[in-house]
Amino acid sequence: IPVDPFDLVIFGGTGDLARRKILPALFRRYCAGQIPSEARIVGAARAEYDDAGYRDFAAEAIREFAPGRTCEDGTLGQFLERLSYVTIDARGDTGWEDLASKLQPGRVRAFYFSVGPGLFGDLADRLHKWGVADADSRIVVEKPFGHDLASARALNHTLAAHFHESQIYRIDHYLGKETVQNLMAVRFGNMLFEPLWNAQYVDHIQITVAETVGVGGRGEYYDTAGAMRDMMQNHLMQLLCLIAMEPPARFEPDAVRDEKLKVIRALDEVLPHHIVRGQYDAAKGAEGDYPSYREAVGNPRSKTESYIALKTHVSNWRWAGTPFYLRTGKRLKARSSVISVMFKDTPHSIFGAEAGRHANVLTIRLQPNEGITLQVTIKEPGPGGMRLVDVPLDMTFAEALGPEGSDPPDAYERLIMDVIRGNQTLFMRGDEVEAAWAWTDPIIAGWVRRGEVPKPYDSGSVGPGDADLLIQRDGREWRGIVP
Ligand code: BG6
Repeated sequence: IPVDPFDLVIFGGTGDLARRKILPALFRRYCAGQIPSEARIVGAARAEYDDAGYRDFAAEAIREFAPGRTCEDGTLGQFLERLSYVTIDARGDTGWEDLASKLQPGRVRAFYFSVGPGLFGDLADRLHKWGVADADSRIVVEKPFGHDLASARALNHTLAAHFHESQIYRIDHYLGKETVQNLMAVRFGNMLFEPLWNAQYVDHIQITVAETVGVGGRGEYYDTAGAMRDMMQNHLMQLLCLIAMEPPARFEPDAVRDEKLKVIRALDEVLPHHIVRGQYDAAKGAEGDYPSYREAVGNPRSKTESYIALKTHVSNWRWAGTPFYLRTGKRLKARSSVISVMFKDTPHSIFGAEAGRHANVLTIRLQPNEGITLQVTIKEPGPGGMRLVDVPLDMTFAEALGPEGSDPPDAYERLIMDVIRGNQTLFMRGDEVEAAWAWTDPIIAGWVRRGEVPKPYDSGSVGPGDADLLIQRDGREWRGIVP
């Protein structure tokens, strides 16, 4: 179903995010018939482009980052006609009148702040000064949303000067991933799991987000952030919330976000010996040599972590006593984002000790090879007595759902359309972001105070050995990082 005609302005329209994600996502939704032909998309940035130049820029981005889409001949050309460009000075007055003249009265206006947070205040001020934004306009902001609690509060304050919370869409792109939304469908669309979804039946939960990529060309930003700020405070925190939260009464923005907030506020402070930080070393790969983290960021003394593993607890009635083990890192063995819900052993085995110990595991593969596997225990076939074996009940979405399952829309496609529809369910509320920083800040302050240096790990490995000890001390094992 197409959305209503809208005007979308992309500040930072010539930047990396616009090129890799925003423009390709808009094109795909256009191909899917969701963007009406009256829609206008305006790129706005400092660079001197005219409309034709910006259309060329967009066409190149789409060819590179949205290849292989079934889109009839000529559709790219039609899509590009929706695009125009203004050269704008976020801190000055150039371009704002021009921008105002491009927008249509009486339709949804969305302003995508695809720029550093240092410009959020300037943009918000000027959108009002030039009468470009009104009470129905929406703004979209990207992470990093602050560097700590104080800066996140300051940003929230800056935006609140001109925009109501209901107009602010804070993106965490993990929430737009099809399989992440599936976490809610699995939990709250089935009777099967929810009665067992608590400390009485769940031994522990593991969340792994492993990447093979290094810091690439983002060294300058990354070295001031590290895995804790770049991934744990937002993406892994959101996954933890969706796994641990109480059922919201409705699938509506504040109902969902209230429940997530309660989870974050119930998180225990993480003890120093429950955290392992790592930093990748150089390695030789099949396609050449990989530089070490320190070489990649150009800081030979960097103490920033590219890997983090930790254990935490959600201290509430449902989860008291069930540890959550979270880990994420760059330059690991495989790209693999997986959540494992590890159920407890049966309280008593009627088959005797020789049958071994068996427990159910629900594995949710977020990417790649999206799907769900339930490990169940059955009899080993054959006449050799009652021996038990664990087998997977596997649902790979690509097989179960056909083409729709094998090629899910990119997170940005879903999220941008939600902005236009005015649905904030999959966006973070200001208090959620602040609560996540309030949990993160003391952890970071602790290792800064102790002057801790992250443990080196080999590129292409599963991370530092100490991360294995973290979980093995509790008599448990990480589930493998497999694609
Ligand atoms: C971003 C982080 O938010 O998420 C990157 O800044 C990370 O460091 C990326 O690589 C991972 O996203 P995805 O969608 O590739 O899992």
